[in-house]
Amino acid sequence: MQRRNTFKLLGASALGLANPSMILRTMQDDLQVSLHHLKSLINRDEEDFWSGIREAYSVSPSIINLNNGGVAPAPRVVQEALNYYNRLCNEGPSYYMWRVLDQGREPMRRNMAAIAGCSHEELAFNRNSSESLETVIFGLRLNKGDEVVLTKQDYPNMINAWKQREKRDGIVLKWVNFNYPIEDKSAIVEAYAREFTDKTRIVHITHVVNWNGQLLPAKEIANEAKKRNIEVLVDAAHSFAHFPYKIEDLNCDYWGTSLHKWLSAPIGSGLLYIKKEKISSIYPLFAAGDPDSADIRKFESLGTRSFAIEQSIGHAIDFFNMIGAERKFERLFRLKKYWTSKVEDHPKVKIISPLSKEFSGAIACVQVVGKTSGELADFLFSESKIHAVGIDWENIHGVRITPNVYTSFRELDILAQTILKLADK
Ligand SMILES: Cc1ncc(COP(=O)(O)O)c(C=O)c1O
Repeated sequence: MQRRNTFKLLGASALGLANPSMILRTMQDDLQVSLHHLKSLINRDEEDFWSGIREAYSVSPSIINLNNGGVAPAPRVVQEALNYYNRLCNEGPSYYMWRVLDQGREPMRRNMAAIAGCSHEELAFNRNSSESLETVIFGLRLNKGDEVVLTKQDYPNMINAWKQREKRDGIVLKWVNFNYPIEDKSAIVEAYAREFTDKTRIVHITHVVNWNGQLLPAKEIANEAKKRNIEVLVDAAHSFAHFPYKIEDLNCDYWGTSLHKWLSAPIGSGLLYIKKEKISSIYPLFAAGDPDSADIRKFESLGTRSFAIEQSIGHAIDFFNMIGAERKFERLFRLKKYWTSKVEDHPKVKIISPLSKEFSGAIACVQVVGKTSGELADFLFSESKIHAVGIDWENIHGVRITPNVYTSFRELDILAQTILKLADK
């Protein structure tokens, strides 16, 4: 508190005389005060710990948010950082953005590499998964007739990007169509492998299918692709900071995620991974000085954007580390199991997601026989103010339920009761 007051008293002009990296350090120390309080939770017993985590978020008192799959809220410490950096940027934008906050990117790149499991020289910050993945989709040097293997259940933005390349450059898209849930790794790998030919250049893998939370065996698909010299792009929008794994374990060449999903970083933050030896051959989406450069930073020529958002990612990393990757996954999986086990035996309720740890985490999609996805989603909201999303995509129909670390068992009791009430009607 004392440091914060000193900071306020000094004001922007006095700070302007100081060394920019010292200012940044002071601000970060200040924010650590909140995190320090959170760290005191670590040794509490399990339920105390998670209720402390709930308090660390600004949870809505008027709705039950079970659509954390679309975008997740940031904990208060991250919101505080965002407001702090934003205010600072508005005191002298070009000074505080380029000379002060910009200096935080390199330390943050290293901290991010430690949780992502790769070299910091392979990570670029941007605004979301779409930007990361489209950087690769549009940056690859593909020729007419080159083939790409993808699925009907991939994310629409990514499908649209590949279709645009098909139209513009004459590449050929080879489609796999799955009937989820599938709890058989080799069946999934074989479905991809059947589409591989000697013209296949790359396979697009959605690591966790957004529609129903199905985890795909990305590493096994990648291993199969590599036997044929096929490159691998992983859409990790829903796997990063949700499932405990390292990028290097996946044997992929390219990987992209949104940090505003499972890392709980501010809305509008993303991350791109490109294997070191592949960087020079990918054109950046926003042109950089040397498009053939082997420096990952060529993908960060994004023009003026919010440095407050970018720097606050560092606080989301701290928050994530405070919980721990394994502990977070175990909790998320337990929340999913809790509500699904209360409804799955009802003859009119269908869970259209895998339920084992090998193939799923927090997300599950539920159907009430005889009701449309829209009817179920509307009933959840009108009856119990539960916000969740109705899914109708290819052969997946239901309501996607996505809890997060702040979700309580009490909220999931209400969810289960409401689903059963509709099923009994
Ligand atoms: C699997 C998958 N890929 C990509 C995206 C795109 O993410 P964003 O809108 O943050 O770019 C999403 C968003 O929900 C997604 O679920």
